[in-house]
Amino acid sequence: MDGIFIKREKVDFLNEDSKSDLFLLLEHEGLEIMLQSIDKGSFIWITPTDGKSTVEFFYILKGSLTLEANHEEISLNANDCFYTKDLKGKVLLKSDTDLKVLYIATGPVFKYLDNLYGDLEYLLDKITEKDEYTKNHSKRVRDFCLFISQKLNCTETIIDNLVLASLFHDVGKCFIPDEILKKDKDLTKEEYKEIFKHPTYSKKLLSGRFSNDITEIAYAHHERLDGSGYPCGLSGDEISLEARIISVADSFDAMTSKRTYNEPMSFTEAANELFSQDDKYDITVTRALKEMADSGELVKRLQEVHYDKL
Ligand SMILES: [Fe+2]
Ligand SMILES: [Fe+2]
Repeated sequence: MDGIFIKREKVDFLNEDSKSDLFLLLEHEGLEIMLQSIDKGSFIWITPTDGKSTVEFFYILKGSLTLEANHEEISLNANDCFYTKDLKGKVLLKSDTDLKVLYIATGPVFKYLDNLYGDLEYLLDKITEKDEYTKNHSKRVRDFCLFISQKLNCTETIIDNLVLASLFHDVGKCFIPDEILKKDKDLTKEEYKEIFKHPTYSKKLLSGRFSNDITEIAYAHHERLDGSGYPCGLSGDEISLEARIISVADSFDAMTSKRTYNEPMSFTEAANELFSQDDKYDITVTRALKEMADSGELVKRLQEVHYDKL
């Protein structure tokens, strides 16, 4: 039939097991029509487009999400739609369930997003294939970093960089042998030396995929203010605010998580403990964490992103 074009691929899009992915259905004179799958518990930023008035339209085919902008939240469900035009600031999209979305843009976004998702997927696979604990730990550290940096009124750039750096801070653990990484206790000196290499491996994996700022935050997540951390033994002002936040979030999650060799501390106990170690951790950061732990805000915000540990 003249003028009619039928495409039959990607018909399995609505199947349960199709994972986070972006399919380009049609591109015509700059207009792009895409289908997007997003896993439950993902964060996606919708950002202003430089100088161009691109309209981005989203129709939720399946699942539910929360939009967050200007400290306001709105929940949307299947059959709801929204679009962005002349955005002034960023919008955070959080998937409350696995999501399927019809995504239409009046300007070219597919190539950029496809490359970005390809890199993110590669790194997430690296973390996931290592062990379940590291995968869940990485997501929780990302959330703690987000909550703390918002509490401290950090800039959008700091928050964006922290969210990505924290999600991938331990990706270098994929190069540490399992028999060392999963050993419960009594690591030898040599084994510790191996463990201490993981921030360097994370830096190698993130370099070229993300900006230097993001790479350096992940690299410095085990540095401590008194110089007792690793891999560089940085101290005081040599450690960026972002790295100070991630070090608190990382330690906090380790202290409050169920591991085979230690009993988890409560949120308030762990926050108090970190607050008291002001030689190692930035007191502005630990104070913000302690306030959120004491007031119950931390539990409330984690429940919103549905973590099983609560
Ligand atoms: Fe680490
Ligand atoms: Fe970690």
